[in-house]
This record gives sequence, C-alpha cells and structure tokens, in this order.
Amino acid sequence: MATKRIGIMTTGGDCSGLNTTIQRLIDGCTKRKWSVVGILDGTDGLYANPARTIKLDTHTFDFENSRLAGSILSNGNAGTTNFETSAKAGKLAAYNKRLKKSLHDLNLDALVLIGGNGSLSLAHLYREIYNDLQLVCIPKTIDMDIPLTDKTIGFDTAVQQLVSYCDQLIMTARSHHRWFVVQSMGRNCGKLALHAGVAINANAILIPEIKFDVNNLIKHIKQSAKDYGIIMVAEGISIRGHSGKPADMISRALNNANIANRTAFPEHIQRAGDTVATDRILASGFAETALNAIENNETFVMTALQNGEYKTVSLNEFFDAGIPEKDPKIIGAMTSNAYVEPNDTLLQTATDMGIYIGEKRK
Ligand code: F6P
Repeated sequence: MATKRIGIMTTGGDCSGLNTTIQRLIDGCTKRKWSVVGILDGTDGLYANPARTIKLDTHTFDFENSRLAGSILSNGNAGTTNFETSAKAGKLAAYNKRLKKSLHDLNLDALVLIGGNGSLSLAHLYREIYNDLQLVCIPKTIDMDIPLTDKTIGFDTAVQQLVSYCDQLIMTARSHHRWFVVQSMGRNCGKLALHAGVAINANAILIPEIKFDVNNLIKHIKQSAKDYGIIMVAEGISIRGHSGKPADMISRALNNANIANRTAFPEHIQRAGDTVATDRILASGFAETALNAIENNETFVMTALQNGEYKTVSLNEFFDAGIPEKDPKIIGAMTSNAYVEPNDTLLQTATDMGIYIGEKRK
C-alpha cells in the first residue's frame, strides 16, 4: 500500500462528534501507515500561508478525550480574512488562490474536510482550491440540513442535549403551572426541533417547513389536559407582522392570551455535550468510508449514510440534490440545503401523539 500524507480540517460551526471523527481518522491512517497533519482553525488556518498545522498521531488523544465536544483542530477565528470578507471586498479569487497555494505547500495527497452544508457547497463551487489533491468531505452539523445523507455528525448529540435540557425544564414548569417556549437551533431546517420535540412529547412543535396559526396554537394549549408543558420553536420560524426572536414572538402571543409562560434558549449547549454513542459510531463509519475513498482514488466526494449503508456521493450529486439558496453570508455563493420532508414519518407520529405541528405543509 503506497504511503500517503493526509490533512484533516474542521470548518463551519462546531458540534459534538468532531473529535471522535478526527480520532478514527488518525487510527485508520496509522493502520495504513499514512502520516496525518491537522490544519488548525479550518480555512482561517489555511489562509495563514504557511498553514497553521499540528502533527496528528495515536498519541494526540487519549481515547476518553475523543468523546469531548468541540474540535481539537478548532473551527475558525472571528475577525480574520475569510470567504465572507473576501467576497465583500471583491477579492475572492485571490483568497481562493492563497488557500490553494497553502494546501499545495503542505504537500498533501488528500484532505479530509469535516464540514457543514456551507463548507461543502463552497468546496463544490470553488473546486480550484482543492484540485491538486484528493478532497473527501465528511458531513457534520446539528442542523441535519445536508442532502443525500440520513445522518450528519453531531445531530444525535444535539438532540440529546436539547432533550436533557427540556427534561429539566419540565420539572419547574410543572411546579409553577406554566409553559416554556424553548427555541432550538437549526437555521431554516426544523429537524432538530422535530426530533427533540417528539422525544420529549412537546405540546407543540413549530418548524419553518410547516405553516402554523397562532390562534390554533393557543386553542391547542388551552384545550390541553395539563397546565404546563413545552412549546418547541425552531429558530427559523417567522410570524407575519412580528419581529424579534421566534420564542419571544410566541411568548408574547401566549401572554396576550393569558397563558403563563417563560422562554428558554438552550443556544450553543446544543453544540456541546459528550458525544452520544450513535454519533461515535457514525464518526467511525464515516472515517473508514473516507479513508477507503482515498484508497480508491476518489475525489470531490462526501461520505453518506443511506438506508443503513455507508457510501460516498459526489459533491456534484450533493449539490444538485438539495434546495439551492443564496449563502446567507458570502456574496455570490450558493448553498445546497435539505429540510424536513412533507412525508417525514415523525410529522405523522407527532400528530398521532397529539402534538400541534401547524396547519398546512408548505
Ligand atoms: O449551523 C449550526 C448552528 O449552530 C445553527 O443551528 C445556528 O443558527 C448557528 O450555527 C449559530 O451560529 P453562531 O455560533 O455563529 O452563533
């Protein structure tokens, strides 16, 4: 087996499961007698040219530490030159060129990019950065908004974090006969809210994919057998004519209807927490699949889990399978997005459980 030099980089928002993925990649490379370099701070560290790197080997992690959230490679620095600032300044071509040069100087055979739909879409759009080496991507995000894979690293842990948070809240809600409006993360995708909401038997789950009527929500709460509970609100919802945080908007409407309530914002706790077993297993499967892809000379691919099977799909397929939208931050860039599908079984489950999920599928 030819020896290789592999780079690993974590980009975009962090989530739990990144360290397990990195550790499994190190194990797999060591077994294959490949050397491994970690690029620090994602593309920010690459832009430094020469890239900020650390050597990775089996001594980098104690196994126990690989389950900790965050990324030992870090995900980026605020206030640096990046895709966003370069696009704004009309200097994206120069920025991309510098990333390419920095990668070239690292003399890598392959780069494993562990990223979300923004990073994967950028890798697809600006492939000139990576076309001197093999690029294999591993999808990670608590939002689960990446097309063509049934799971992304970090999602299950985020669901567990949100569920544990709500399991605590419900105790004080019960003592005070009041409702909690909990705002989940997820950007414009409702999967995190939907999964956690079903797991905790929320009274209502509001997600961006489904239209809802505040008056019907209020009616539903008033008809509830209980005088306490949780209204799970995805951060991506909006109400016509209202502004502010979604949980605050819903809370105000409940106040106006004399329904005692408080808001709760678990925020980045959803990206933290020890990696749950299913995310560790997913990390292991994706790492192995990524290294096999490198052995098979694949490039511009993403690892995917489809119907229980680990595989790779091309970045072209990934991009074409999602709903294209303007990147919220990078002028001129597009991202490919996945959402809760109208036929998602959990929607029916939620309805069967008596959870209010809105009126009409968009
Ligand atoms: O994409 C992951 C995510 O956690 C979203 O769910 C959330 O909207 C966003 O990132 C928060 O980003 P930041 O950490 O920059 O506030």
